[in-house]
Amino acid sequence: MDANIMFLATDSSRAASPLPRGCTFRESDWHILAGFWHPVAFLHEVTPDKPHAARLLDVDLVLYRTGDGITVARDLCPHRGTRLSRGFIKGDEIVCPMHGLSFNGEGRCTRIPSVANPVAPIPPRLKLQTVLSQERYGLIWVCLSGEPIWPLPEWPGIGNPAFSKLFMPVDTWMAAASRHVENFNDIAHFPWVHTQSFGGDTDWAAPHYEVTHTAHGLSFWIPYLEGGNRFPDGIEAERRQVVYRYDLTFPFSTIIAVEPQDSDFVHYFADTVCPVSAHETRIFQVVTDTSGNPDPELWTRDAHIINAEDKPMVEEQRPEDLPLDLRDEIHIPADRLSIEYRRALVGKFGLGAPLTS
Ligand code: FES
Ligand SMILES: [Fe+2]
Repeated sequence: MDANIMFLATDSSRAASPLPRGCTFRESDWHILAGFWHPVAFLHEVTPDKPHAARLLDVDLVLYRTGDGITVARDLCPHRGTRLSRGFIKGDEIVCPMHGLSFNGEGRCTRIPSVANPVAPIPPRLKLQTVLSQERYGLIWVCLSGEPIWPLPEWPGIGNPAFSKLFMPVDTWMAAASRHVENFNDIAHFPWVHTQSFGGDTDWAAPHYEVTHTAHGLSFWIPYLEGGNRFPDGIEAERRQVVYRYDLTFPFSTIIAVEPQDSDFVHYFADTVCPVSAHETRIFQVVTDTSGNPDPELWTRDAHIINAEDKPMVEEQRPEDLPLDLRDEIHIPADRLSIEYRRALVGKFGLGAPLTS
């Protein structure tokens, strides 16, 4: 039982479940997803002057910066359960807004202001529930289980220190992370949805493509004739013939290398998303190109138009949850990636396991 009981039982800590209250995921899926790294914030969102709130898999998190780097913890003061993200940073510590307890970068309590004796020992249990995190590609990644079952994506271009990275404005889609991923990897929608951006002719027949199983996910490539010319590579042309190389890292990260065929220029567009809850997804996108100095205005506008075209379509897909039984939706030949993705989520990781009893 989860709601409307007012008092937790006197043995409630023995019965405590790691599942968050009001969990919107099926229990077995939550445990599997908790074993992956997920992005929860851009580094630049976590400023030294205040805590940053995030939510992953229905778990509220607080991120704060100290001299030791960024700490991620459950957004819960161990004293009386107040949200630490409402607090503030003082010196090198986060301070709870309720009774002023301070916690250092390891999450250990260092000060209880209402205790008269300043050298009185502080109970070791007054410690934040920190979670495993790391920084990469300008993002903070979190693994809630503490035991990652899968690596972070390896992103060409974005990972090249010679190329500066552009961080797109963050957005939230009221859609499942998996629906977003499938949309990002869907090719047949280009001419229909991306009419104001790169979409080409609606009589385009999507070519046959092969999906390759990589060490970390799935990849494929296709040629495409874009409807315009968005590349700042000095080529004068009304439209550009490109190759898109997709590389998906399970469960929710994809990079596309966009290669105009008449130049050496390559545009990299990485998309990784935080499953905030089952139908709420925070979108993080990182862009660069082989100029090494990508144009922020150009690529931010490009990403904005593309996302604005996709977002309402995906938010209104039904069912909201990705059907993992392949018989539940009808597939067309261009769906090869989507079919392999659904198969892998089930076959490799056990997501969508049948409900027993
Ligand atoms: S609830 Fe945080 S200090 Fe009391
Ligand atoms: Fe799209």
